[in-house]
Amino acid sequence: MRIVFLGPPGSGKGTQAQIVAKTRGIRQISTGDLLREAADRGTPAGLKAREYMEKGALVPDSIVIGLVREAISDTDQFILDGFPRNLEQAETLDGVLKEMNLPLDAIITIDVPLEKLVERLSGRLTCPECNAIYHTVYNPPRQKGLCDKCGKDLYQRADDTPAAITHRFETYKKQTAPLIQYYNKKGTLITVDGTKSIKEISADIRDIITRIEKDHGVQRSYPSG
Ligand code: AP5
Repeated sequence: MRIVFLGPPGSGKGTQAQIVAKTRGIRQISTGDLLREAADRGTPAGLKAREYMEKGALVPDSIVIGLVREAISDTDQFILDGFPRNLEQAETLDGVLKEMNLPLDAIITIDVPLEKLVERLSGRLTCPECNAIYHTVYNPPRQKGLCDKCGKDLYQRADDTPAAITHRFETYKKQTAPLIQYYNKKGTLITVDGTKSIKEISADIRDIITRIEKDHGVQRSYPSG
């Protein structure tokens, strides 16, 4: 299964990608996580990427495309979370997957109105160790401020400040939203209602994946939860 999660900042791409990855054992490739990890390791590309990320701008394609190429080179099943994010990335991805003879099964876009996105981003907490995502109200950790999975102190992302959030929305509108039309034309776009709860959206996505597998003649069980 090869899926792309599209959607504005805070729409729940990472949350849903992590659920699908865990329940189906498919690798989640989050370009945001890869870039943050590279920045934390202090690699030249990571440090350059950090300058763009903190402002809420897109990191240059030359950095991001290399990371994605490497990540998909040794797997034929993956969930792309946060990639592609502009037309050039989408076209590059098409070319790479064509070379590998691995077409995408679905592009799932999570549709959420702006006012909800701000609320979600301002309350987000992330684990620095395993990248698990929480929300102070909608998905709180069992113990305040600590990751349920690894017990680490949760942190607020540096780009979840009001100024960076505004810039990220503008970047999304100008550069990423046109991909909805790009994939719509190809007939591979599926829109889910992102205003529902995390569980409800996850159930909708599970149904979509099951339907695709049926169409492809694949039989698999899907654990609930
Ligand atoms: P990235 O990390 O990808 O950030 P983003 O796209 O802005 O998306 P977010 O991670 O902020 O949100 P999300 O949709 O994953 O939502 P989440 O599940 O966390 O990218 C960061 C930066 O890296 C970019 O700005 C750019 O600089 C750079 N970058 C990354 N990819 C790039 C690329 N391809 N090219 C160039 N640059 C790139 O949920 C948000 C919150 O809401 C959480 O608290 C969660 O618990 C909560 N929540 C989720 N679902 C629900 C729900 N249904 N109801 C209530 N709360 C919910």
